[in-house]
Amino acid sequence: MKVLFIGDIVGSIGRDAVEKYLPRLKKKYKPDVVIANGENAAAGRGITRNIYNSLLQIGVDVITMGNHTWDNKDIFDFIDDADYLIRPANFSNEAPGKGMVQISKNGVTLSVINLHGRVFLPPHEDPFAMADQLIAEARQISPLVFVDFHAEATSEKIALGWHLDGKASAVVGTHTHVQTADARIYPQGTAYITDVGMTGPYDEILGMTKESVIYKFQTNMPSRFEVPKKGREVLSGFFVEINDRTGKAIACERIYINEDYPFQG
Ligand SMILES: [Fe+2]
Repeated sequence: MKVLFIGDIVGSIGRDAVEKYLPRLKKKYKPDVVIANGENAAAGRGITRNIYNSLLQIGVDVITMGNHTWDNKDIFDFIDDADYLIRPANFSNEAPGKGMVQISKNGVTLSVINLHGRVFLPPHEDPFAMADQLIAEARQISPLVFVDFHAEATSEKIALGWHLDGKASAVVGTHTHVQTADARIYPQGTAYITDVGMTGPYDEILGMTKESVIYKFQTNMPSRFEVPKKGREVLSGFFVEINDRTGKAIACERIYINEDYPFQG
C-alpha cells in the first residue's frame, strides 16, 4: 500500500495548494490512501463541516487534527458523523469523536491513529501508552498502521518514533509547520519524519502574517495572528510505501513544493 500524507493545511492558501498539487502528486506517487492534517484548515483554527467535505471531495481520504481541534465550534456539530476525521486519541474520555480509523483500499486495510504530544503543550493522557493500546487493537485487523503525532518537541517525536519501531508502519510528526530533513526507515521497518511541515502561506511565519507575529515578539503585547488569504504557497508532505503482508515500510520520501523547490513530476 502506498500512502501520501499532507502536512498541516493552513487556511485557504493551504486548501488551494492541496487542490492544485494533489492531482499531480497522485499521478507521480499513485497513493492508495491520502491523509492530511486539517487542524488549521479553517483560517488557521480548526476545521468546518464544509472544509471537511471539500477535502474529501478533492481526494483526501482521512483527516487528522491536533491542538486546534476544538477552535472552530462547527466541529461539535459534525465530528460524530465525520467517519474519516480523527482527533488525538489521548484527549480526555469526555472528548467527542475518535482517535483511530480504519480505511480499506484494494483489499488492504490501514489504521490511522492521531496522537498529541505533551511537552510544551497541554497535559493530555500518555501518548506512548495510548499508542501501544491502539496499535495492539489495530494489528488484530491489519499490520498496516500510520501514526500522526501532533507534537512540539523534536525529542518527544523521535522518542515515539523509536518506541513504535516495528509496531507502526509509519510515524510522522506534525504541528511545528517546519519540515525536518530526517525522513528515514528505522531498523524494524517504521518510516519516520520528525515533522512533515505545513501546507499554506509560504512567505509568512508558520502560516500567520509576518507583521502580527513580529509585533508580538517586539512588544509582548496581545496580537491577533491572522492567516493571509493571498500569497505564494508551500505544500509539505510525506510518502510511504508499506508491505501489505508485514506492515513494514519499504520506502519513504519527504515532499516539499514551493517556488524555490518546484514540483518535479
Ligand atoms: Fe498544531
